[in-house]
Amino acid sequence: MRTPLIAGNWKMNGTCSSAAELARSLVDHVATDAPCEWAVCPPFVHTPAVAEQLTGSSIQIGSQNVCDKDQGAATGEVAGDMLTDIGCRYAIVGHSERRELYGEDDQLVARRFVAAQRHGLVPILCVGETLSQRNAGEAETVLRHQLEAVFQAAGEGGLAQSVIAYEPVWAIGTGETATPEQAQAMHAFIRELVRERDAATADKLRILYGGSMKAKNAAELLACEDVDGGLIGGASLDAEGFAAIGAATRS
Ligand code: PGA
Repeated sequence: MRTPLIAGNWKMNGTCSSAAELARSLVDHVATDAPCEWAVCPPFVHTPAVAEQLTGSSIQIGSQNVCDKDQGAATGEVAGDMLTDIGCRYAIVGHSERRELYGEDDQLVARRFVAAQRHGLVPILCVGETLSQRNAGEAETVLRHQLEAVFQAAGEGGLAQSVIAYEPVWAIGTGETATPEQAQAMHAFIRELVRERDAATADKLRILYGGSMKAKNAAELLACEDVDGGLIGGASLDAEGFAAIGAATRS
C-alpha cells in the first residue's frame, strides 16, 4: 500500500513573509485526515520561515535542489546537511527547469540524488520527456536513461528510499496536462523499469505525477493505479487549491 504524497514545488516565488503566510494558510486548509502525506518545497531562503509555521503540523518540507558535494568549494550551492539542519525531509533533484535552464545532466542529477540520501533526505527524482522527444517516439528511452544514471550512481537498491516524479516537460506550467491514460502508461513504464533493476522496491516506490495538476484535474489523475500523488507547481501557491488536490487522493 503506497500512501500518496502531495508535494508543492513553490519554485522561485514570494518573499519570506508571503511564504510564511502561505504556510500558515496551509495549516488551516490541509485536512489532517486526508489519505495522503503532504510536503512543500519553498525557495531555500524561505525555508526557516516556513518551517516555523509548520511546526507541529503534518506538512513536511523539501528543498528544490541539493548539492552533490558535502561542503566547501561549491559557490552558490546548498549542502544536504544544511537542508536537514533547517528541517527538510525531502529534496527535489533533476527538475526539468534545472536540466533545461541550468544544464544539469543525468549524471549530475544522479550525484545530487545520492548526496540527498547520504544526508538523510528523501530525494524526489524528477524525470520526463520534452514534447519533441515524445513526438519523436523517444519518451521511454529518455526515461530509461534518466533512471539508469541514478541506478549507476546509487546502486541496485538505491531507489528504495526515494520518490519519483514523472513530469512531462510539455505539461509543466503550460496548463496542458497528461491525460490519465498517458500518465498511467508512463507511470507503469517507470515502475517496470525499476522492477527490472530492483524488484523489491518497485511496488513500494511512490511515483508522483507533475505537470499542471490542479484541483480540477487531480481526482482523475490520482485515481490511476500507478499515480501515487502529485508534484504541484503553480497550483501549490494557493492553499485552498493545494488542499483540494490532497482531498482528491484515493483512499
Ligand atoms: P506546474 O509545475 O504544476 O506549475 O505545471 C509542476 C512542477 O514543475 O513541478
